[in-house]
Amino acid sequence: MTERTLILVKPDGVARGLVGEVVSRLEAKGLRLVAAELRTLPRETAEQHYAEHAEKPFFGSLVDFITGGPLLALVAEGPRAIEAFRALAGATDPVRAAPGTIRGDFALEVQNNIVHGSDSPESAQREIGLFFPSL
Ligand code: CMP
Repeated sequence: MTERTLILVKPDGVARGLVGEVVSRLEAKGLRLVAAELRTLPRETAEQHYAEHAEKPFFGSLVDFITGGPLLALVAEGPRAIEAFRALAGATDPVRAAPGTIRGDFALEVQNNIVHGSDSPESAQREIGLFFPSL
């Protein structure tokens, strides 16, 4: 069954010139892009996007980071797109992410981990609605 997922190339990934790398990996996998926009997030949108982490000690730092420069917001679709992209991204902690994954190949720090991908159909629906309300 085709599903959609929200993907972010975070400000660290954009600043390091990894947009092409991320997009080419997801396209090579067979996921299809349905929306893409480079934008700098207002704090309010960042706080909504990461609302589930509002009580975590790293929340303020995470919001500073994700609003600190332009990010690339993408919607991709395909069979089991959510799980497929999370497999490409690798574990949240890049040191634990397998080599061959985006985080495993390009990152060292848990906050600055290059990409975000929705973690469930419910999150994907909420996140796509937040970033691309017209979809
Ligand atoms: P993401 O998949 O976008 O989901 C939540 C984000 O919070 C995560 O990627 C990291 O960027 C960040 N994060 C998760 N755990 C930590 C942590 N322990 N310290 C700092 N940032 C974190």
